[in-house]
Amino acid sequence: MQIVILKNSVEVAEYGANIFIEQLQAKPDSVLGLATGSTPMSLYRQLINANQAGEVSFVKVKSFNLDEYLGLDGSHPQSYRYFMNEQLFDHIDIDKSQTFVPPGDAQDPIEACERYENQIIEAGGIDIQLLGIGRNGHIGFNEPSSGLMSRTRVKTLTKATIDDNARFFSEGEYQPHLSITMGIGTILDAKKVVLLATGDNKADAIKATVEGALSASCPASALQLHRNAVLVLDEAAASKLSDCDFYRHIEVENQKLRASLAKS
Ligand code: PGA
Repeated sequence: MQIVILKNSVEVAEYGANIFIEQLQAKPDSVLGLATGSTPMSLYRQLINANQAGEVSFVKVKSFNLDEYLGLDGSHPQSYRYFMNEQLFDHIDIDKSQTFVPPGDAQDPIEACERYENQIIEAGGIDIQLLGIGRNGHIGFNEPSSGLMSRTRVKTLTKATIDDNARFFSEGEYQPHLSITMGIGTILDAKKVVLLATGDNKADAIKATVEGALSASCPASALQLHRNAVLVLDEAAASKLSDCDFYRHIEVENQKLRASLAKS
């Protein structure tokens, strides 16, 4: 895993956005894996700015979101389809029919999960997957105890996740306890993975992800198996890592290597 430690959430969003911008410039028909939550919001704003400035186009892009609440259709303000439209799709030149979010209103959720996996395969697989991380180490809605090779399926949310997300629902409003989520195996199949984490409430999860054992207790630790995963952290999220100096040293060496390759 490549560990990038930056000063604050602004730098994290900028760094993450640049990875996506470079990806889109190199491959305009990229298949993007996208995420919801508060962490990616400023990255999306930067992608919108880059699109409006003509630096990148999404015309040929397909996208697949990680997850959706089961029981909410896309017109519900708390659904992840609604979030994606508001935060990104409505402001860029993407063909919305090519943006896929697991269907929260599926009559047959099990069949819908299988269909989602097939749609990803038919699109040629995900080129680059964006991830946030839960305080409990979840990626997507793969809660602790999720199978490390799991595929898209229905998952029950933990109390911690329900409590964390309660802030988005108004008092007395129905809050789903089930979701459809890409599996950890689905995520690991992406060619590149970019995980963003900011704030000290993510420090324990990041410690377990980077320096803990590979374990279903911390689903994000599965990224230890990925060939091309980058974790972009602010200082607060990295604050419990033991080997920060080493990770910073690696980044300096990587940058030197990239600079010398660019010259040659
Ligand atoms: P957050 O959520 O970005 O709102 O912290 C991340 C997640 O739960 O995956």
